[in-house]
Parts: sequence; C-alpha cells; structure tokens
Amino acid sequence: MKFFLDTANIDEIRNAAEYGLIDGVTTNPSLVSKEGRDFKEILLEITKIVDGPISAEVVSIDAAGILREAYDLAKLHQNIVIKIPMIKEGMKALKQLSKDGVRTNVTLVFNANQALVAAKLGATYVSPFVGRFDDISEVGMDLIGDLVQIFDNYKFQTQVLVASIRNPIHVKEAALLGAHVATMPFKVLEQLLQHPLTDIGLARFLKDWEKVPKSTRR
Ligand code: E4P
Repeated sequence: MKFFLDTANIDEIRNAAEYGLIDGVTTNPSLVSKEGRDFKEILLEITKIVDGPISAEVVSIDAAGILREAYDLAKLHQNIVIKIPMIKEGMKALKQLSKDGVRTNVTLVFNANQALVAAKLGATYVSPFVGRFDDISEVGMDLIGDLVQIFDNYKFQTQVLVASIRNPIHVKEAALLGAHVATMPFKVLEQLLQHPLTDIGLARFLKDWEKVPKSTRR
C-alpha cells in the first residue's frame, strides 16, 4: 500500500519525508489556500522533496479550461498528476488527458459508478472521500471495498486512492480492503507509528536498565 501525504505544507512534507514513508503528495485548493503562497511555487518545492506522484487540482469547471490548466500544471514537472473533479466536463477533459498520456486523479468521488466511469476513461487514480461520508453519518469505508472489487473484476489499471482520511482506523481498514493508496494528513501518519503501550514498555525497559551495574553496561 502506498502512503501519500495530504497537505500543501512544506514543513509537514519535509518532516514526513524523513521517515522515508511518503510515496507521493495530494493537494487541493483548500489545502493550498491555507499556505498563503503561490500554487506553482509550492508544487515545485514539493517535487524537490518527494520523488513520487504529486496531485495538483484544477479549478476550472469547463472541459476547455480544465485542459488548459492541466497542460500548464503538467509541464511543471514529470511527477505532477492532474486532479480533476468528478463532473461531466471533467470527464470530457479526462478522456483527452488519458489519450495524451497525462496522469490524472479524479477527485470528489462518492459512489462506485462515478469511479467506474473515471476508470473507463483512463484515470490513473480515483479519490473516494471516506471522511466526508463519516461526517454525515454514513460509513465511507463501505465504498472502498466496492471499488477495489470492481477494478479487480475488470483488471482496470486505475488505483483506488483513499482520501479524506481522518484517523488511523481509516488507514487500517483501507489496507484490509486492498486499497492501492491512502492519502493522509501528517497527524494521521504520525499516529500510525504510535501506541501508548510502546511508550510505557520503553519507559519500563529504560528504568530497569538503570539497575544493571554501570560497569557491565554497553
Ligand atoms: C485529497 O485528495 C482530498 O482532497 C482530501 O483528502 C480531502 O480531505 P478532507 O475531507 O479532510 O478535506
């Protein structure tokens, strides 16, 4: 399973990259707006830290505009993946981008048929938003198993990129369901490494080590 970091914050990306766990990065307009910086500058900086797919989202909602933005962003760096909203005009643009060999991530996917359409049109990734389902009292993770199954049934190359991850349980469930990628906030990535019993256990080991005669310690 690949881990992507869901952020446009350079410090977070640098910190996460130190673990050697980050296979890619996803951004979106909301994440970029928090940084108060130039979008392209942020993207270029990310390409210097992470050698993997970096999703950059278009904001046009007509096919011509989406294509214009997509080609402009794609030429920034070979690792840029164009994030397109799951709308009719977006799908028209997707077909063209697939034909031209531009890698894509179809975002704001909320049901299996949307994902199936995106896969048929050659999307590299589809991004189902699990947390936003949970926010409205529906189980977002139910969709992930369906998508993995459908893509496997027809041997689509499209990867299920689980997005809107809010906690470590989402990551574990996505892995159990065979999702290809989980994109997560930095906080969730750090939570994956932690357990209170690990901390308690280590504290006890270190305390007990103090009782070993100093002369015999390494
Ligand atoms: C990533 O590709 C998505 O844009 C992101 O995961 C959405 O997360 P949110 O629902 O927490 O905003």
